[in-house]
Amino acid sequence: MALHVVNHPVAAHILTLLRNKATEPARFRTLAAQLTYFLIIEATRHAATEVVSVETPLILCPGVRVAEPLAVIPILRAGLAMLQPILDLMPDVCVGYLGLERDETTAQARSYYCKLPVLVGKRVVIVDPMLATGGSAKKAVEQVKAAGGKNITMVSVVAAPEGVQVLESAFPDVDIYTAGLDSHLDEHKYIVPGLGDFGDRLFGT
Ligand code: PRP
Ligand code: URA
Repeated sequence: MALHVVNHPVAAHILTLLRNKATEPARFRTLAAQLTYFLIIEATRHAATEVVSVETPLILCPGVRVAEPLAVIPILRAGLAMLQPILDLMPDVCVGYLGLERDETTAQARSYYCKLPVLVGKRVVIVDPMLATGGSAKKAVEQVKAAGGKNITMVSVVAAPEGVQVLESAFPDVDIYTAGLDSHLDEHKYIVPGLGDFGDRLFGT
């Protein structure tokens, strides 16, 4: 597994605005989408391509087409923030959904929904903004693998070292892309410094 921290000045600027507790849900949603563009561009940097012909107004010339089918799987709820920007860039991807929710006292993730497309032969990108204990991500990868997914990438906005370690030990073949590798988890298993509860801030709950 490889951990990739997307290190771009504009991405860092956007992440700082997301972290700010004064950022309201409407602005938070916009910023989350903007940051996702950076993350998905990096996460698909090595996607297979093929040469195609394209007729410009002047000449027929060689062009490029992404040749690797992609499946994007947001983890509900918070992962929904990252879906539309990916669809904006790659409208032909197929989409699956995994519903996972942490118990408020134990922080254990519970699965409550699973709707996955055919994953065999596709690159699978799981999106969830927060990788905290790694319990949700681990469950998601297990479900994706059980459905035949092999080439799996995890994309998060912020990751804790604890969660990275959990995913790395369980699935050495899964790459992780994040905009921020934070310090640690607090006693409630929230990421520090983090940005708080992403789903609550996204949806104003
Ligand atoms: C958050 C987040 C991840 C999970 C990360 O979701 O979006 O799915 O916590 O924590 P973990 O790495 O310790 O599992 P939450 O369970 O709060 O659900 P929500 O998206 O519906 O708010
Ligand atoms: N889920 C969140 O939304 N934030 C955290 O810091 C940890 C889990």
